[in-house]
Amino acid sequence: MKLRPVLAELPSYVPGRTVPGAVKLASNETPYPPLPHVLDRIAAAAADVNRYPDNGSVALTEAIAAKVGVPVQQVRVGCGSVSLCTQLVQSVADADDEVLYAWRSFEAYPIITAVSGASSIQVPLDPDHVHDLDAMAASITGKTRLVFVCNPNNPSGTAVGRDALVRFLRAVPADVVVALDEAYREFVTDPDVADGLSLLADFPNLIVLRTFSKAYGLAGLRVGYAVAADPALAEALRQTQVPFAVTTVAQAAALASLEPEAEQQLLARVADLVVERDRVHAALLELGYPVPASQANFVWLPLGDATVEWAAGCEQRGVIVRAFAGSGARVTIGTPAENDRFLAAAAELLARA
Ligand SMILES: Cc1ncc(COP(=O)(O)O)c(C=O)c1O
Repeated sequence: MKLRPVLAELPSYVPGRTVPGAVKLASNETPYPPLPHVLDRIAAAAADVNRYPDNGSVALTEAIAAKVGVPVQQVRVGCGSVSLCTQLVQSVADADDEVLYAWRSFEAYPIITAVSGASSIQVPLDPDHVHDLDAMAASITGKTRLVFVCNPNNPSGTAVGRDALVRFLRAVPADVVVALDEAYREFVTDPDVADGLSLLADFPNLIVLRTFSKAYGLAGLRVGYAVAADPALAEALRQTQVPFAVTTVAQAAALASLEPEAEQQLLARVADLVVERDRVHAALLELGYPVPASQANFVWLPLGDATVEWAAGCEQRGVIVRAFAGSGARVTIGTPAENDRFLAAAAELLARA
């Protein structure tokens, strides 16, 4: 057997660890269980799993298009937005083409780019842990086919403002696709951060990625969506989709979550998490941790070389965080009690340092 050499070079995707009895704040999930209404729909849909799902996710696509206010031809549902990221790279980048993104950012970008055969160009975040969009624009070459802009950024939680984003979009050549990855959009409270959907009409090379995994609490079911300014790009995502990738159960759960009453309840939970995010952020600053303000459902502690030991200290205190060796730790916002447990651990670790 001869495997592709690129596989040996891949950074491995490190999923958040689960340790019995510990609080898991490592995967940017919501701590809340599915709504009873959504669970009912999941149970009802499960009765049909002897059949293949609707390959086009037609009803869900229509519901998303209506919510967003675009024709269905611009919308594509996928098996989590990470699948849509993969399909995008497969749709636009040939071997040796370049995919550009900030670093550090979502850890799937380098993996899916390498597996596709394209080359990654990584542009460091600025000293405030924010996308350096001017440097990213300056890094575009004739080989660049796709730019990911993760807004808010995973793992730093920072977001770029509207003016910087619009200036960047104007600077990008028309034949380079910009994927605005808004997996955490629902947690954004800064009015200066543009809703990517509002920019689609002005930028034909823009595509916005959203997910039901975070704010809508369906991480385990794998369903996300893309809204493309150009229907041809949405069609390319159809062509590159693994057949039947979005299950009947996932489609039903997402549809149920978009019903007005359910969506209202889910977004109220998001508002609670945002209050907690800001509380945790303020408490960490008070302790003396240099934490950038977050627009997502997690906070970033840039601890550099101390990261791994610090994360192990959290784990000894029953809190699992996500460590990026040599760089920092990302901590997901949980319930108030979980966050208190984390803050107690963070305070103790600082006292010992
Ligand atoms: C920035 C970003 N994009 C996309 C995803 C993928 O989400 P999903 O595939 O669950 O929709 C994540 C998940 O962590 C993320 O952080």
